Parts: sequence; C-alpha cells; structure tokens
Amino acid sequence: MVRPKKIQFTDALESILVSIWGGTKSNLDDSQIRKTRDALVEIRAIYRFKGEYKNKYPSSINYQYPKNRAGYLAAFGQRHAYLPYFHLKRIEGINPKVIPHPERKKGELVVTTIGAGAAIEAYGICFFYNEEAHRLRKLRLNLIEKIDNWIPNRHTVYDKLLKGTFPKLEVIPHDITADLTKECIPIFSNHYDTIAKSDILLIYNVMNEILTKHSKMVWKNIKFILNNIEQPLLILLVEPSAPNASPRINWIKTQLAECSNLINNMDEEEFLFDSEPLQIVYENTGVGLNDRLFGQNIDGSKPEFKTSIKRTHMACTIEPQSPVSMEQVNKQLSMLNIKRGKKGRFVRRQRIEKTFWDLYPNWDKD
Ligand SMILES: C[S@@+](CC[C@H](N)C(=O)[O-])C[C@H]1O[C@@H](n2cnc3c(N)ncnc32)[C@H](O)[C@@H]1O
Repeated sequence: MVRPKKIQFTDALESILVSIWGGTKSNLDDSQIRKTRDALVEIRAIYRFKGEYKNKYPSSINYQYPKNRAGYLAAFGQRHAYLPYFHLKRIEGINPKVIPHPERKKGELVVTTIGAGAAIEAYGICFFYNEEAHRLRKLRLNLIEKIDNWIPNRHTVYDKLLKGTFPKLEVIPHDITADLTKECIPIFSNHYDTIAKSDILLIYNVMNEILTKHSKMVWKNIKFILNNIEQPLLILLVEPSAPNASPRINWIKTQLAECSNLINNMDEEEFLFDSEPLQIVYENTGVGLNDRLFGQNIDGSKPEFKTSIKRTHMACTIEPQSPVSMEQVNKQLSMLNIKRGKKGRFVRRQRIEKTFWDLYPNWDKD
C-alpha cells in the first residue's frame, strides 16, 4: 500500500508553486498566495470565455509567464493529477487486457505525454499502478511540450510529488521541446528510440489550447508517433467538455477513432474527487494550501473551491504497424540495391526510387 503517504499532495503542490514564483522559502508567503489567487481566477476566466470577448481573454494561454503556470496549477493541478487514475480504472473495468503491465518489462513503463506542462498527470498513473503494491518501478516519461519554462517546475513534480509519494519509484524524464503546430518529425526522429517504446500516450488538456486551423499539422506529428510504436499503445485523451472547446477536440477524436481500436468515448463526464483514495479536501485549519488559496483569510478575490471536474474522454489502442522499424526495412532494401562491378566488388548504391510500401503493397494485408 502507498499509505501512509510520505507527503500530502497539497504540500507538494505548494513546493511546485514556490518553484514557479521563485524564492528559497518552503511555503508561499502571503504576497505569493495573493498573486496565485489572482492568477487562478484569471486562468479560470480564460478557460470559460476563450474565443469570446475578443480583446479581454486570449484564445490560448502563454505558459512562459510564471503567473500563468502558477494560476493553471492552482486552478487545475490537483484535479488533473488525479484524472489518469480514474481513467485507467475505467478502462481496466471495460477491458483489463489493454492495460500495459510494467511487470512484463521488469517494472518499467514508458509514458509519452503531449502538452506535458508540469507533467502533474504522471501522479495519477503512478497511483493507479502502485496503489496496492510496488508494481511500477521505473517510469520513463517522454515530455512533449513547446514551453521550456516548465522544465524546472517539472523537476519539483518528480522530486516532491512523485518521489515524496512513491519513494522507491525511479523517474526518468525525457524532455522533448516541440511545437505540435509546426513540423515535429525531425525532432521526434531524434528521440525515436524512446518514443517508439511508449506504452501509454496521454493527450490531456492540450488540444483545447491548439487552434483548429493547425489540426492537419498536429495530426501529421501525432501520426508519426502512432506509426512508429513498437508494441501496443494505449492512448488516453481527456479534454475540457465545454461547448466552445469541442471544435478543437472533436477532430482528433474522429481521427483516432478511425485508425485505432476504440475502448470507450464519452462526450462528457463529471469526475468527483470527494472520497478516498483521491479526495480533495479543504483542510479548514487556516494553514493548508487549499485553506489559503480558497479561504476568507486573504482579502481580494476569493476563488471557488472545486472538488469535481467535467471532461470529455476517450481511450483506444493501436497495434504496431510492423515488427521491424521502417528505418531497418529501408536499410535492408538499400543493401539489396548495391551493385557489383566487373570484378565482383560493390561499386555503388542505387538510389531507392520506391518505398517499401510501393514494392510490397499487400505486405500488411491478410
Ligand atoms: C493546459 S496545459 C496541460 C498540462 C497537462 N497535460 C495537464 O493535463 O495538466 C497545456 C500544455 O500544452 C502546451 N501546448 C499548447 N500548445 C502546444 C503545442 N502546439 N505544442 C506543444 N505543446 C503545446 C502548453 O504550453 C501547456 O503546457
């Protein structure tokens, strides 16, 4: 059993917020709490009114600014961290066979997350696997994210939240700086080995931030990941379900449904965090983070304390296309095309005009 936890979630979250604002103290001081509360209220408003009241609320959030990172984590951090636990439990109930087993890989799991931010959702994955026993021993995280400013904050997530709760877990982060709206294939190719080993792909709360006009490029980049996996991949998607978010989400759900084995797809569900093991509590002591963020004891705006979240979600699996990588196939093909000179020596390689699929169009058909 994980319990008793070495660290309270809110204490770890406070350390992450301290790392965002900067400073050496272990707790947020009153001025930082005030700034976090204001930032939290602003982020919630952007989420609610995105695309409306044009000059007032931007259509996406720039996480280069500390106030946006702090406001985002204060507003959503705990609920987003818990989401993969519920998601995996749900999928396990529908079809336990699709859940990757770290036991089959010496306790190791490779999770790729798109729009990783602080990677707070890694917590829910770890909790799912290690709630009852120390199943997950080594977690490799491929963190695809366009904003580098998250990187130091992520390290506080590993050190305080993950190591604090799961002391025996080894976390191996792999930062992949990439903007999905641009050509990412050269970048992903540089990280080919680790991406190809992914067991789980998380698309959590990121599509909501990408304008629909970029969908073609975003899909090309995601498809590269899907085409190159070396074992079955479980894809988990969770995104806001508000009507103004749906154009940014629905296209990718449709694309995924077309090229995968669908496990489930919900337009909207309210996840409740009102009971153990993942309960969000207002400590009522005046000293806990939630008391200071959502309580009366600080003047100014008083944000609403939330213990549930509405989200659209989907889960599907993809089988690897080929038992050998395309890189290996093309290398073998180029060897076949080496020409011999008169004396039997290899003299040159012919340019390969055709791809493997041109030569063997029915190779993957039954
Ligand atoms: C709302 S945060 C989600 C963080 C985390 N996945 C979660 O569920 O809490 C969205 C993240 O996606 C990143 N993002 C937005 N557009 C992106 C893009 N085009 N390419 C890569 N990352 C992007 C943002 O910088 C941000 O860190």
